[in-house]
Amino acid sequence: MRTERDVNPASSALASRFVAVRALSADLVAPLSDADATIQSMDDASPAKWHLAHTTWFFETFVLRDHVPGYRLFDERWPFLFNSYYEAEGARHARPRRGMLSRPSLDEILRYRAAVDAALLAALPDLSDVARTLVDLGCHHEEQHQELLLTDILHHFSVNPLESAIWPGDPKVPVALPGPIAWLEGRTGTVEIGAYAQSSQSFAFDCEGPRHTQLLHPHALADRTVTNGEWAAFIADGGYRDPRHWLSDGWAWAQAEGVVAPLYWEQRDGVWTRFGLDGRRPIDSAAPVTHVSFFEADAYASWAGARLPTEFEWEAAASGHDPLSGNQLDAAGAVEPRPSAGGPAFFGDVWEWTGSAFRPYPGFRAAEGAVGEYNGKFMSGQFVLRGGSCATPRGHVRASYRNFFYPHQRWQFTGVRLAKDL
Ligand SMILES: [Fe+2]
Repeated sequence: MRTERDVNPASSALASRFVAVRALSADLVAPLSDADATIQSMDDASPAKWHLAHTTWFFETFVLRDHVPGYRLFDERWPFLFNSYYEAEGARHARPRRGMLSRPSLDEILRYRAAVDAALLAALPDLSDVARTLVDLGCHHEEQHQELLLTDILHHFSVNPLESAIWPGDPKVPVALPGPIAWLEGRTGTVEIGAYAQSSQSFAFDCEGPRHTQLLHPHALADRTVTNGEWAAFIADGGYRDPRHWLSDGWAWAQAEGVVAPLYWEQRDGVWTRFGLDGRRPIDSAAPVTHVSFFEADAYASWAGARLPTEFEWEAAASGHDPLSGNQLDAAGAVEPRPSAGGPAFFGDVWEWTGSAFRPYPGFRAAEGAVGEYNGKFMSGQFVLRGGSCATPRGHVRASYRNFFYPHQRWQFTGVRLAKDL
């Protein structure tokens, strides 16, 4: 017998979205063995297995435990393992030791996912609006972890001398180098920035609002991001050896870490190569440079006689472009920035460092409860990146979307768009 709840279109749309998001995570780890999925190659990265379990913990905790009467945890010991940083959820396993978790096994974690998926789909038609909002948040949260899962796997395989390819890459077709940058004159004066209130029809993270005004001064943005070929010219010109281009903190970082090129670049037989999810290959001079830190991005801009855009200049320019366009993640497979197809593009390929600190917009208030810890408590010492990357699930990013990382970090697909004052 069909009941009213079976045909609730909001329920079925959310169920379809939930199923699709959960399936993509499983597809991304399909090439991995249990050992591949267990290793943690650095403190910033997490094992693939941990991402699979943590995203499941998020749904189990904030939806099933809190909103489904009578729900019993899959394993009462696991929240300690898979809580990431939520102080309101109590003590947790130390982040740098996530790679010690050989148990539970990958198979057990996949069973955990299946059990939580079944429980959530069964509960969905009866969930309150608040709980449905948390299911939606959980889907966006899992998409963020899909990108991290890919960049963490890439880092993990990069430190193994075998330099294995996880997926075959795109066929390498020689592409003409893009012409010189064209400068796009930006809007001047007062502009509206940020997402509308989160209660409106479309999803946004809390840190994207409130919508408010910002004042833009005369400026221009490059019509594309910096290429590998241009970055190689920066290296050849001594860019990494000349402190005049560098912020003091950036110069100290580059000296201490021995940084002389983007992460994953190595010179072999006089040729610059890079490691990617398709193994080690010569760099593609026409493709956007990636795996550079904020410090490197700022030094490059200084060397080029330009600067990084502010996040407000970027958003004002990008808001007229389609956030579903560009090279973004659609399915498991080739993941790498590609040469520009021509014309100004703001979404996909590489996250673009801005010169803006990740700080609250005027009137920002973190949500009540544990999910209020999602973004607000990280608004210290990090810079905003915009636009999404080749590893960002398509549909996840939008013009108001604010990603953020510390200025030395570069294992994400991070790149550079230049700006200048007019
Ligand atoms: Fe998370």
